[in-house]
Formats: sequence, structure tokens, C-alpha cells
Amino acid sequence: MQGVLVLDGLHKQFGSLVAVDEISLTVEPGEVLGFLGPNGAGKSTTMKMAAGFLEPDRGTSSICGEDVAVSPKAARRQLGYLPEGAPSYGEMAVRGFLDFCAEIRGLSGGQRSRAIDNAIERTELQSVTEQTIETLSKGFRRRVGLAQAILHDPGVLILDEPTDGLDPNQKHQVRQLIADMSKDRAIIISTHILEEVDAVCSRAIIIDKGRVVADGTAQELRKLMPGRRKASLEDVFRHVTSLEEVAA
Ligand SMILES: Nc1ncnc2c1ncn2[C@@H]1O[C@H](COP(=O)(O)OP(=O)(O)OP(=O)(O)O)[C@@H](O)[C@H]1O
Ligand SMILES: [Mg+2]
Repeated sequence: MQGVLVLDGLHKQFGSLVAVDEISLTVEPGEVLGFLGPNGAGKSTTMKMAAGFLEPDRGTSSICGEDVAVSPKAARRQLGYLPEGAPSYGEMAVRGFLDFCAEIRGLSGGQRSRAIDNAIERTELQSVTEQTIETLSKGFRRRVGLAQAILHDPGVLILDEPTDGLDPNQKHQVRQLIADMSKDRAIIISTHILEEVDAVCSRAIIIDKGRVVADGTAQELRKLMPGRRKASLEDVFRHVTSLEEVAA
């Protein structure tokens, strides 16, 4: 089945703070959507709700037609999710952790070992398979998170800053992996690296204070800068997002 992700009116408030304000978007099969925005804009909160790991105040997320709140099992079968930060279960060795994830995913026998080997290979974890996760460097831990996200070959990938902390070689490798996986899948990645939009995303959305403020291809976004022939995505980002207000 072709992967598709549909968010409809997602809203989340923490006390008086509106973290995510009516976000709707669709990621079609074959698309890699870049999810951009300043620190605290609401990217991770949106992605947690999209993945069914945080309950929204209102709005829905559906993965390959399955609502994450109504049919969480069916939705998660088609979902690979890389949360912010390091994977839990730091005391487990890499292969043991992936084996555990594969078991939860219902994979068994030859299918299970093939899936694990494939994920290890694609994220270049061969040299650390017996090392415990908590003793790995930051970039390797990130790649373990990525390996568990792609393990079961899901139709939809929600990746929260997948290249955060990776060295230039690994950044390149992971972007290549995302590009390879994008055929027939719907992928959303958050990032602060604007060059990543040109490198791997077919479209980007910029959010600010929980709201979508720009949506388009990199080329369309650059046109949002009035009167500038050679605007960079960084110019556009600064133009559409607001700096933190300084209290008088
Ligand atoms: N559990 C929570 N309780 C209270 N406030 C929260 C909670 N989770 C997130 N927030 C707040 O919601 C806002 C959005 O946070 P979020 O983590 O979604 O931002 P982000 O766009 O991912 O930022 P970053 O680029 O720094 O990762 C922030 O102001 C954050 O402090
Ligand atoms: Mg975040």
C-alpha cells in the first residue's frame, strides 16, 4: 500500500500556551515534506500527535487511512517514528534492541532477522551491534533510532530531526536513505538545516507559534521574499517567522 499521512486541524495547548494551532497538512506517497520552524514553534508536538504518541485537544491524524486515535494498532503498523532525542532502553545492545522492536512489530523467523540486518546495514551500524546504546556516541544513537523507525518497512515515516548530531558523511548517508525510501512512501522530516530542504525535500512547511506560515517547494518559498531576486531559504525563514519578543 502507498503511504499517505493526513493531519486535520491538530491543536494542542499546554496551560495557557497554544503549542500547535489547527495544523492541517497532507503528505502524499513519494513526497518528502520538510517541517521547519524556530525552536519552540511546535514541530515535535505536532509530530508526536501525528504519530499517536500525544493526544491532541482536537483534530485527527491518519496514516494510510487509519486514524491513530481510533485504530492505533493498524495505524502504527504502517508508521515509522523517530522521536526527538535518544532511544529509551539505553542498557540494551543495539542488535538486542532492534530484535526487541522487531518482536513488538510482530516480525518473526527469517523475516525478523532479515529486517534487522537490513536496518543495520542501511544505517551503517555494523560496527556497534553488540554495544549498549547508552555507551554509543550521539550520532550512533541517532542512527539506532532511525534503524528502529525503518525496521518494518512502513509506508509513512515521521522523523524528528533525523540528521541532528550526525557528521557530514552520515548526514549525506541518511539523506540518501530518505531519498531512496521516499518512493511510494510519505515522509515528513523536521530540520533546522535549511540546505536539507534542497537536498532531500520535495516540499517544505514553515510553522511559527504553532501555525503554518509558509508551504511550498523550495523555489516557491524563495519567491515569498518581496523584491529579492536571490533570496535564500534562510532569508525566507527569517521573513516569515518572528523573533522572540523581548519583555520591556
Ligand atoms: N509537555 C509539555 N508541557 C508544557 N509545554 C510543552 C510540553 N511539550 C512542549 N511544550 C511547549 O510547546 C512548545 C512547542 O514545543 P516543541 O517541542 O513542539 O517545539 P519544536 O518546534 O519541536 O522546537 P525545537 O526546534 O526546539 O525542537 C514549546 O513552547 C514547548 O516548551
Ligand atoms: Mg523539536
